[in-house]
Amino acid sequence: MQTMRTVKTLIFSASAAVMLAGCTAGGNNPGREYAPNMYHSVAYEPMSQITDPDAGAWANSLEHGDRTGEYYNSNNYNPYKMNMRTPPAHTVKRNAQGWLPYRIARVPKDSIDIVVGNLKNPLDSSAAVLAAGKALYVSYCQHCHGAKGEGDGKVADKYAGVANLQGDTYRAMSEAHIFQVITNGAGLMQPHGSQISPEDRWKITKYVKALQKK
Ligand code: HEC
Repeated sequence: MQTMRTVKTLIFSASAAVMLAGCTAGGNNPGREYAPNMYHSVAYEPMSQITDPDAGAWANSLEHGDRTGEYYNSNNYNPYKMNMRTPPAHTVKRNAQGWLPYRIARVPKDSIDIVVGNLKNPLDSSAAVLAAGKALYVSYCQHCHGAKGEGDGKVADKYAGVANLQGDTYRAMSEAHIFQVITNGAGLMQPHGSQISPEDRWKITKYVKALQKK
């Protein structure tokens, strides 16, 4: 009986010691890791850098000879052993559609055409684009500008000065001008750039132009 208890105590203490050994984690020390290959992927990780070639050598599952340790995660061929390449100087990131970022800020209404220059709508007037543009117009514009763009939406009753987009001046507006107005607002109209993606803004622009032809 006595021996049984001693054995149990010993097993308990030994397992407690093993568990506690893992609690020394802190700072750069991950503590004791079970199956380290699960945490330190063999593939290069762009964000993590382990430049010590011996890191995790004890965990190597194969004969290693001159192999690096399992934790080593750096690319010797890139500057600073980085796993990502630094982009060439002066490169500008494009979005998923390959478009350059649109960085024109809010400007007074009479300067819009000067700043937008001859920016072109990258979308065509296909039925799909117009249908999507219409759905977006209904969600984001119709309550002020009205179903036909005549400035008679429900909000226009309370929010005076909503533009009648069927007026001659507005019909003459370029797509770039409308895109800029949606993005950054103009006069009394507030910006919608943070709510609507650039692609959707161009779709709305196509729809507004189609609406004005009716
Ligand atoms: C909260 C009401 C409101 C909403 C929503 C709104 N607008 Fe406007 N919009 C206005 C007002 C008010 C003006 C007049 C601005 C001025 O001339 O001071 C205006 C003006 C405009 C103009 C003419 C700008 C110029 O250069 O004179 C365009 C184009 C336009 N809106 C398009 C849109 C589109 C497209 C949407 C939907 C994405 C939209 N608006 C959503 C209130 C709104």
